[in-house]
Amino acid sequence: MFFNFFKKDTSFEPEHKREQIQDYDDISQIANFFKNETGVTFDKQESILKNKVTTFCKHKEIFSFHELLDSLNRNSTLKQELIDTLTTNETFFYREFKQVQELVELVKKCSHKVEILCAPSATGEEPYSIAIALLEAGVASESFNILGIDINQEAIQRAKNGVYKERNIRNLSSEQLRKYFKQEGGLYRLNDSVKSRVTFRVINIFDHSFKNIGNFDFIFCRNMLIYFDKETKIKAKEILQNLRKNKNQEIFFGHADLF
Ligand SMILES: C[S@@+](CC[C@H](N)C(=O)[O-])C[C@H]1O[C@@H](n2cnc3c(N)ncnc32)[C@H](O)[C@@H]1O
Repeated sequence: MFFNFFKKDTSFEPEHKREQIQDYDDISQIANFFKNETGVTFDKQESILKNKVTTFCKHKEIFSFHELLDSLNRNSTLKQELIDTLTTNETFFYREFKQVQELVELVKKCSHKVEILCAPSATGEEPYSIAIALLEAGVASESFNILGIDINQEAIQRAKNGVYKERNIRNLSSEQLRKYFKQEGGLYRLNDSVKSRVTFRVINIFDHSFKNIGNFDFIFCRNMLIYFDKETKIKAKEILQNLRKNKNQEIFFGHADLF
């Protein structure tokens, strides 16, 4: 009784003035949602996921994981923002370059126009590396097309811009930098001769529409399966295998993408 007398009655205050009760405790439903949507699992990194999602929620003034889940199911922009926050886009030019060299040798043997898929491309360094390596090997620019796809919208926008920091181009020679980039202070802007060989799309490889994205002579899928569990890796591999023109041509997976 005594307590109730002094307790502040907030029911007359406008919604935004009332103290919000925050509940950022059980991350499991968000983890499941994210895995079902993207394939990416945080099974062994739940505390990292919890920290990232809590920061995301606070920034968006979402007061619980439950509220977030509810909003994600209704709001595709919010879902894309969460995907952009939680996916890892680390990449650089001429990464695991031996495979690119193998690809160049195979393309040189082709007499038709070659279609190449980079799934995922992240910020574009991989498909652009392939384009540079093909041009360096004397392959005519009109004899190949490269499509780079990624689920991360911000990464694809950066890929389309084609402007890179020093650490991303560290494996390229100064001759290649002179030939294919324009230096702007500490940044390197890719020339149109390379940019025009690559197109980009934001797409999830598990979306139904990805199955109709086209057929390709060569497919690169490097450093994405490392974020999937075994079952999802097998599913992803199957989807990509169905996009091959020649069913005997192996997909180029990254060395860390073990099955
Ligand atoms: C580490 S990057 C790899 C980039 C490049 N292939 C490389 O090896 O340098 C992994 C990328 O996979 C993308 N990714 C994760 N799940 C995806 C999905 N379901 N569909 C398409 N892209 C996805 C992420 O957005 C991220 O940009």
